[in-house]
Amino acid sequence: MVEKITVINGPNLNFLGIRELGIYGNETYKDLCEYIKNYCEKKNIEVQIFQSNSEGEIINFLQNAYYENVKGIVINPGAYTHYSYAIFDAIKSIILPTVEVHLSNIHEREDFRKVSVTAPACVKQIYGKGKDGYIEAIDFLTENKY
Ligand code: DQA
Repeated sequence: MVEKITVINGPNLNFLGIRELGIYGNETYKDLCEYIKNYCEKKNIEVQIFQSNSEGEIINFLQNAYYENVKGIVINPGAYTHYSYAIFDAIKSIILPTVEVHLSNIHEREDFRKVSVTAPACVKQIYGKGKDGYIEAIDFLTENKY
């Protein structure tokens, strides 16, 4: 059976390749999506990738995943990580195993980034590994490591 994974990226991740190059690197959001899609194609995993700058749209997408027989969710909530109890509640609500990913090392940046209000709703948090963090998260879910 082909497994389905949903990848959700939050605000400003569409600006990869433009935003803070010293932190996030030169690769664009399109490069990130292609990297994930190529990996999933090789592994015969069906992947759906969604990005939004809006909290409500992210919540709607999480809720849709509940109805779509998805194996798990990989989410980079961007700055919502640090204060969105609504996204925390949505992750809790849908029951699906969810891995939180951050490209940068949030524990070695500003103090406000050290707190994730969404991580306690997730089965794992991965940070500071760039785009490979997404691959590790996909493997973690598809290999039932939660
Ligand atoms: C980020 C880290 C967040 O603190 C920041 O607001 C982002 C990106 C990361 O991938 O490293 O937008 O989630």
